[in-house]
Order: sequence, then structure tokens, then C-alpha cells
Amino acid sequence: MKRFGLILFLIVVCFAACKKSSDNGNLIKLTPYKIVPPAFYPDMVIPSDNEPCVEKIKLGRMLYYDPQLSNDGRYCAQCHLQQLGFTQTDMYLNVMPVLPHVNLAWYTNYMWDGSQKGSLEDLMFFEVKDFFKADLNKINNIPQYKSLFKSYFGVDKITYKELAYAMAQFTRTMISKNSKYDKYLLGEASLTNDEEEGRKIFFTEKGDCFHCHTNPMLSDNLMHNTGLDSLYNKEADKGHYNVTKNNLDLGKFRTANLHNVALRSYFMHDGRYKSLEEVVEFYNSGMRKVSNLDPIMTKPGKVNGLKLSDQEKYQLIQFLKTFTDNTYISDTSFSAL
Ligand code: HEC
Ligand code: HEC
Repeated sequence: MKRFGLILFLIVVCFAACKKSSDNGNLIKLTPYKIVPPAFYPDMVIPSDNEPCVEKIKLGRMLYYDPQLSNDGRYCAQCHLQQLGFTQTDMYLNVMPVLPHVNLAWYTNYMWDGSQKGSLEDLMFFEVKDFFKADLNKINNIPQYKSLFKSYFGVDKITYKELAYAMAQFTRTMISKNSKYDKYLLGEASLTNDEEEGRKIFFTEKGDCFHCHTNPMLSDNLMHNTGLDSLYNKEADKGHYNVTKNNLDLGKFRTANLHNVALRSYFMHDGRYKSLEEVVEFYNSGMRKVSNLDPIMTKPGKVNGLKLSDQEKYQLIQFLKTFTDNTYISDTSFSAL
């Protein structure tokens, strides 16, 4: 009898995961959705209480483009523009570049300085509650949302949690997988001579980019001090220190994800560089030897910079441009409904 109870319990739980009761008490069948990343990407960890479903992904997408989510007309896609890889050309408050949305499903550290951590659900909770300060009364008075959340999440009252879960569903599907470089990794495209030379610089000790901008995500998602500053004049330059107050974290930032990097107008946490040429020149000759500089930056042979020739710098940039994914920035399943 006990065992029967357990089995019944399990059946109900499994059932509840993708089927929720609707207004009239009937079960609405949600359509499970299989997210298919490139085969060479690491496994994606999806919380068991937020399994992907077509309907919830669509709901998250609606919210992403809906000014009603904020109290001042802002909406996510206003700053995170698809045609630019979900970033924008303006600096946010003239202080920092807007971070792109790409392959967020694999992140555990978020923001330039790593100030947010956890699952995509956690991060979206922060976005709707603390960043947007979404007015739950307002949302609960929108009949369409009220009924959709009731049908999909089984709630009478929408809270930050359901908003966050729906947004996490959508943002988890935002995977860039059709750049020239992705196709190259799959053996479906070949690089030009310059791109190939650039790739070698990136992935060997010569340029040594790959220790932090790791394959295939192009970021290890960890904090590093790359020697951008020796004095931390601006508060923002202190980076992860502002989160931990530990001196060892001074000037540390999360390794930037380089997918679609060529579409950006400002680079680094304060947008100090305005072109890939400037970024590459920084790595070539601009590094400051601060005490907590990442040891990768001063490995033998590059204590005084990379010493790349003009042609090598050009080739490295040509390779960085192969991270641009034109399919991603025009994929209508990420655009406004
Ligand atoms: C007014 C412009 C603006 C709007 C609107 C906006 N963001 Fe952002 N977003 C930013 C900026 C700037 C950052 C970088 C902040 C930082 O690093 O401290 C960012 C960072 C993020 C990140 C972290 C990405 C990463 O690489 O770690 C996520 C996720 C995100 N935003 C989601 C959203 C969502 C969801 C919405 C809608 C609820 C939204 N944003 C609305 C400007 C905006
Ligand atoms: C020790 C780790 C490390 C190494 C090695 C490294 N990077 Fe970075 N990279 C970072 C970090 C951390 C950031 C973000 C810095 C910030 O936020 O100010 C970054 C940012 C960037 C950006 C700016 C991206 C953006 O969106 O603003 C580019 C481009 C870049 N790196 C390219 C390279 C290239 C090319 C190399 C090799 C020559 C390289 N990196 C080597 C850690 C590293």
C-alpha cells in the first residue's frame, strides 16, 4: 500500500511537471521543448522544476518585449537589441556597456563584475525584482498574463518567481551556434588563411587568449585581473572587489563571452576601447603589472606583452570576426512576437 502511494505520488509529480490545471480545473497539456545546443557544447543544467515547454518559452519571450513589465516603459529588448547580439551601441548611464545575451544557459556568474550568481532563474528573479522593480499589482491586473500564468504555472497570483521562470525559459533558448567558427568546429566551414593564422594565435601560447576565453563557450565565466588598470580611480574599475571587499579581487572581471564580439561598439566593463584593434593592442602592449595580475598574463615569453606584428594583430581580429552569428541576430524565434 505504501509503495502504491509512492508510485501514485511520482505519477502525480511527473504529470504536474508539464501539465498544469487551468481555470476550469482541466489539465492543460504543455508541449515539452528540447533545446538542442551544438554537440560540442557542455551539458546544459536545467532546474527540474522549470523544464522547457513551448508555451512557457513563448510567455518569456512576450515578457522580454513587453514595456508593461517596468513602471517607466522600459523592456528588456530595449537595451538588449537582437540585431546587435542582444546588446546595444549606447553605454548604459554613460558608465558601462550593456552585456549581450548569448549562451546564458551555461553561466553561473553574471554581470561584468560577477555580482550575481546562480541559475538563470535566480538571475531573472534579480532582473524583474531588483533591476526592473516590476509592479506585481499591475501585472496581476493584465487579464492575458493572469490567465496564461494560471494555465502554465497554476498560480492565481503572479509573483516574481513565475515571471523569472518564464523569462529563464526564453533566455535559455538563446544559443548562438551558427557562426563561421561554430561551423568550422563542426567541419562545415573552412577559415581563410588570415582567420586560420588568427585562430592559431588565439589558441596557442603566442596570443594565449584561450586560457580564459575557453572553447567552445569563449569564456570560462570566471573572474580575472587582466592588468587593465594599476590605479583603480573609478569605483567600477575595482570589479569583483566591490562584491567581496577582498583585495585579491581588485580589478577582476568576468571573462567576456566573445560570441558576436565584432558587433559591439564598446569593449571592457567601462567601454574604454572602441574597436577590436584597441582591444588587441591592449593585450599586445597595454597590460599593467599589478600584484594580483592573473598569472596567465605573464607566462614566460609574454612578460612584456605579446609582441605581435601588425599582420598578426590583423589576423587575430579576422579570427575574432568569425564569432559573428548572422543567424542568431536574425532568428525570428528570438524576436518580438
Ligand atoms: C536600461 C538598459 C537595460 C535594460 C532595459 C535591461 N538591461 Fe539587462 N543589462 C543592462 C546592463 C547595462 C547590463 C550589465 C550590468 C552589469 O554588468 O552590472 C545588463 C546585464 C544583464 C544580464 C547579465 C548578462 C551577463 O552576461 O552576465 C542579463 C541576463 C540581463 N541584463 C537581462 C535583462 C533582462 C531579463 C531585462 C528585462 C527584464 C533587462 N536585462 C533589461 C542593461 C539593461
Ligand atoms: C587572464 C584571462 C584572459 C586572457 C588571457 C585574455 N582575456 Fe580577454 N578578457 C578577459 C576578461 C576578464 C575580460 C573582461 C574585462 C573587463 O570586463 O573589463 C576580457 C575581455 C575581452 C574582450 C572584450 C569583450 C567585450 O565584450 O567587451 C575581448 C575582445 C577580448 N577579451 C579578447 C581577448 C584576446 C584576443 C585575448 C588574447 C590576446 C584575450 N582576450 C586574452 C580575460 C582574458
